[in-house]
Amino acid sequence: MRTPIGIDLGTSTSEITAFENGQCKSFEDNSAPSPSAVVPSVVAYDPQTQEHKVGEMAESYPDCIREAKRKMGLSGEEALCSTGGKDLKPEEVGAIILKHLKKIAEEQMFGEEITDVILTVPAIFSEKARVATMTAGQLAGLNITQLINEPVAAAIYYADLARDRWQGNKTLFVFDFGGGTLDFSVCQKVGNVINFVCTGGDAKLGGKDIDEMFMAYIRKKFVADHPSVRLSEGVPIEEAFKKACIVCKKSLSTSQSGHIYVSSFATENGRPVDLNISVSRDEFEKNVLISFYFLINIH
Ligand SMILES: Nc1ncnc2c1ncn2[C@@H]1O[C@H](COP(=O)(O)OP(=O)(O)OP(=O)(O)O)[C@@H](O)[C@H]1O
Ligand SMILES: [Mg+2]
Repeated sequence: MRTPIGIDLGTSTSEITAFENGQCKSFEDNSAPSPSAVVPSVVAYDPQTQEHKVGEMAESYPDCIREAKRKMGLSGEEALCSTGGKDLKPEEVGAIILKHLKKIAEEQMFGEEITDVILTVPAIFSEKARVATMTAGQLAGLNITQLINEPVAAAIYYADLARDRWQGNKTLFVFDFGGGTLDFSVCQKVGNVINFVCTGGDAKLGGKDIDEMFMAYIRKKFVADHPSVRLSEGVPIEEAFKKACIVCKKSLSTSQSGHIYVSSFATENGRPVDLNISVSRDEFEKNVLISFYFLINIH
């Protein structure tokens, strides 16, 4: 029997896992400068080598494609993703990521070819988004045996992990704060059967929105401190700024303060001005997270 393979094709990051000897084994991307099983869902096209780069390797391209999952199921202008002078559909971007994950796993499974895969999708994904995800799988040469909802995968994994504490009938609340989607589900385990009672959330709300609010806040703060500067424009500076804000946001989860530095963020009388700002956790919570909570309420 072939090893069962599961893939989480996420908005911010993606993962591939095999179920071997009763255990889940996630595969690290050894081609990345800092190998990790959490692979950034980022794709870039290099016109010089005519190759697609995926994950951490793609992040160094200023016009890389991020968060294509948010566009799954859309069409026309709304769906367009561009990199290196090439236009791609979201399902094509998804396929490039899936192919990369397939390669990572195959290399570490001693050449065992991966064809059959279970893919997870947000519980509140539309039918069109599900079809586009299936197409991504087909384009990657995979046979998607099942699309399962992310909270279902989480509940099954938890039920197995905590089987000693999860004896008998239990109720579980699954909260998934993703990069692009935010959802919750309530499930009940009766004997060995897990039933989903309800699910809800927003397919267009997640950590990506916090990043955008944080960037807007920092930009405003910088302009207030430097009223006569002209902000630099262009994709490379935007990408460097975004990256620095995400790193700072993550550091605030474990530290009381974080720092953001972006070289030549603006110009003043033709001279470059760097962005060099410290942010405290308290300031982040009061000025950024509070706006995010407001967004949750109005959705
Ligand atoms: N240490 C951290 N502190 C704060 N935020 C973090 C931290 N680590 C990750 N995040 C944020 O959590 C969000 C969710 O990341 P995750 O990789 O789980 O999303 P995803 O599975 O790709 O998204 P989705 O499930 O919506 O498709 C991202 O916005 C990411 O920036
Ligand atoms: Mg997720």
